[in-house]
Amino acid sequence: MAHIVVLTGAGISAESGLKTFRDLGGLWETHSVEDLASPAGFRKNPQLVLDFYNLRRKQALQAQPNAAHLALAQLEQKHRVSIITQNVDDLHERAGSSSVLHLHGELRKVRSTQDPNLIYDIQDIDPETHEIHVGSTCELGAQLRPHIVWFGEMVPEMENAAALCQTADFFLVVGTSLMVTPAATLIYHVPEKVRKCIIDPQIPEVPKVKNLYSIEEKATLGVPRLVEQLLR
Ligand code: OAD
Repeated sequence: MAHIVVLTGAGISAESGLKTFRDLGGLWETHSVEDLASPAGFRKNPQLVLDFYNLRRKQALQAQPNAAHLALAQLEQKHRVSIITQNVDDLHERAGSSSVLHLHGELRKVRSTQDPNLIYDIQDIDPETHEIHVGSTCELGAQLRPHIVWFGEMVPEMENAAALCQTADFFLVVGTSLMVTPAATLIYHVPEKVRKCIIDPQIPEVPKVKNLYSIEEKATLGVPRLVEQLLR
């Protein structure tokens, strides 16, 4: 049984109907990162930020896992699989993957602005609308915010993610432009001798990484094909 570590980004959920960030028509082409995904943006216009994530949460809850998510879950039949995702949707979990580390947070969760350890499932806050608004509060009476890592904030799971990479026997990257750090540096934590593969219709540049090959394909084609090989 090999330890297969998979780093995924928005591209793996693209064929489930969720927008990526930096492709043509991606979220950051039509929306301002500073206004919607930073602590300063939240201070300036909290309702705008909450509305943005309320909508994204709704879309993510309606989306279904695709063949790439499902294939990665099947890979557990033969291997130990650790998924490190930059995605805030829960499509890996719903596909059946049992070890999913969310580097950038989760849309299904919200947390207190006063105590970051007070994290709630949105289902327990508002099971009907799955929304939070200005005035939605935690048990301390403080405003709730999305459980999302915004630009300029620490990435609390980074150390755990790096530790997984260090013990990989095979490292797979799917659907990320590798433009955002520290996530993009995880590949440098994988031992040099370990084989690494990138599946993406537009392969990102990864300087100075040994034993790396790429499959220039969409996730729903490339991932099931590779998984089939790894299960053989
Ligand atoms: P990007 O939008 O930067 O990159 C998406 C990647 O997916 C690109 O390399 C595309 O070529 C690829 N792609 C598009 N369609 C695909 C498909 N069908 N199959 C496979 N790949 C496909 O998204 P991320 O790299 O995930 O952070 O972005 C990283 C972070 O930036 C996000 O987590 C988010 C964003 O700002 C936060 O919100 C904190």
